[in-house]
Amino acid sequence: MMYDKMIPVITIDGPSASGKGTIAQLVAKELGFHYLDSGALYRLVALKSSQEGVNISDEDVLAEIASNLDVSFENNDVFLENKQVTDAIRTEQCGVLASKLASYQGVRDSLVARQRAFRKLPGLVTDGRDMGSVIFPDAVLKIYLTASAEVRAQRRYKQLIEKGINANINALQEEIRERDERDSHREIAPLQKRLDARLLDTTSLSIFQAQNSVLEWYRACCAN
Ligand code: DC
Repeated sequence: MMYDKMIPVITIDGPSASGKGTIAQLVAKELGFHYLDSGALYRLVALKSSQEGVNISDEDVLAEIASNLDVSFENNDVFLENKQVTDAIRTEQCGVLASKLASYQGVRDSLVARQRAFRKLPGLVTDGRDMGSVIFPDAVLKIYLTASAEVRAQRRYKQLIEKGINANINALQEEIRERDERDSHREIAPLQKRLDARLLDTTSLSIFQAQNSVLEWYRACCAN
């Protein structure tokens, strides 16, 4: 839609546990923009398919699940078929399964329109792997947010423990490495730092500093 193109989008892509979700939400809040956690959609497909006992090799059924996903986002909660699944989709098993089924073209295609529908006034901040490259190629500001694998494992560990989910730091680091490998080397919409994205390495930045970098870039390039 022509009109959509006038609604500003900030995309934050990056590897797992880089902190992109936290930063994206803070920036959205500061600007009064909408927020899309695209990874949650892949995690929801993963949750639903494991509930249904679908085989990971069954691309058609997985794509069908992605097309028919009955999901809603309210405040900070995620609902699948009216059941609150906010924490259920955050487990590492769900993340690993999401990463595997995200390599299927059929699954990705089924989620495109749903993601673009989040583009509403006054603007959108979104995080994922292909937000700037595939879903919102005309975004006004594209960021590639990353941090060292060690720091990302520590952050993910802290996040899980705070949610009361059991975790092991070494196993997490290994899972993060494997997931990075799969997400960056798949054929379709791989995670890559594109030339039109600005690099934000948060290894030694606080959340506040990272949030401010994004806001400064946005104000410099795009805010009236
Ligand atoms: O951001 P996350 O860890 O919640 O995402 C879970 C998985 O979903 C991730 O490992 C790869 C996939 N994903 C994707 O392929 N494209 C996106 N835009 C977002 C997530």
